[in-house]
Amino acid sequence: ERLANSTLMEKVFFANSGAEANEGMIKIARKYSADQYGPERTKILTLKNSFHGRTVATLEATGQDKFHQNFYPFTGGFDYVEANNIEDLKQKMADPSVCGIMMELIQGESGVRPLDPVFVREAARLAKENDILFMADEVQTGIGRTGSLFCWQQYGIQPDLVSCAKALGGGVPIGAVLSGDKAAHVLQPGDHGTTFGGNPLAASAAKTVLDIVDQPDFLADVKDKGDYFMNSIRALNKRSVQDVRGMGLMIGIQVGADKVMDYLKRLQNKGVLALKAGTDTIRLLPPLIITKEEIDQAVKAMNEVFE
Ligand SMILES: Cc1ncc(COP(=O)(O)O)c(C=O)c1O
Repeated sequence: ERLANSTLMEKVFFANSGAEANEGMIKIARKYSADQYGPERTKILTLKNSFHGRTVATLEATGQDKFHQNFYPFTGGFDYVEANNIEDLKQKMADPSVCGIMMELIQGESGVRPLDPVFVREAARLAKENDILFMADEVQTGIGRTGSLFCWQQYGIQPDLVSCAKALGGGVPIGAVLSGDKAAHVLQPGDHGTTFGGNPLAASAAKTVLDIVDQPDFLADVKDKGDYFMNSIRALNKRSVQDVRGMGLMIGIQVGADKVMDYLKRLQNKGVLALKAGTDTIRLLPPLIITKEEIDQAVKAMNEVFE
């Protein structure tokens, strides 16, 4: 109820992880289409350089070959659109076997790359026009990370399905699929399920997280601290920093493939835990409750490490 009320979505199905939430979205998109159009319309479009999880279907949904190696055979039924390429999008969405399109609004794993809003809105428009379900994978961006409860709220779209996990439990495993009016009544008892999904421990953790995120100014603060963090890194004026990008407290610092691992190690030695995104980018996903003083400490470490 809390999640649905703050997002204009109708129903929420609880799972145990992000990959499982994405599997739920894939199943709902296929069943919606089977109910409306029969069994032939099953293809899910995702984006090249996406990341959607580590189960067999979500690995296949992940548009990066390096994650596929050694895990074949896949089940089929996915195709990949080049991110931000509207021509490619139009061509692939015209395929009559497509029933859903899934995307991360900021591609996290492949380099912290916010999608172009024009591309996202065109995908949402075409999805609506062709009765294709639009699915936002908000496993990494959801629950305040980008300065709004969900990132799609800053893109001016209303997805049919949204997945979230990670931050929802604040460390306790939980995932969720939010369904809008089109998708809310697709699953009937027996169509989908999970033993542990929505268990009282995980649900209490999620409720506590939502209590914190819903505090007045919490999300505005995330935005403000994210801008402060990004501007402070830019102000270091380091030669090796080619780009600083992101939204809220999801930040990518592009430093080059030859430097990234060395910088991560040296930052770790100074108490700053970051991770790699793509081949050449440092990814920062600090706790949303980070203070400006702690941001200053991290920037000080970066000043010492970056050339
Ligand atoms: C965008 C995105 N989707 C899905 C997943 C998979 O989530 P989980 O590891 O909880 O299965 C992740 C992270 O691992 C992710 O970043």
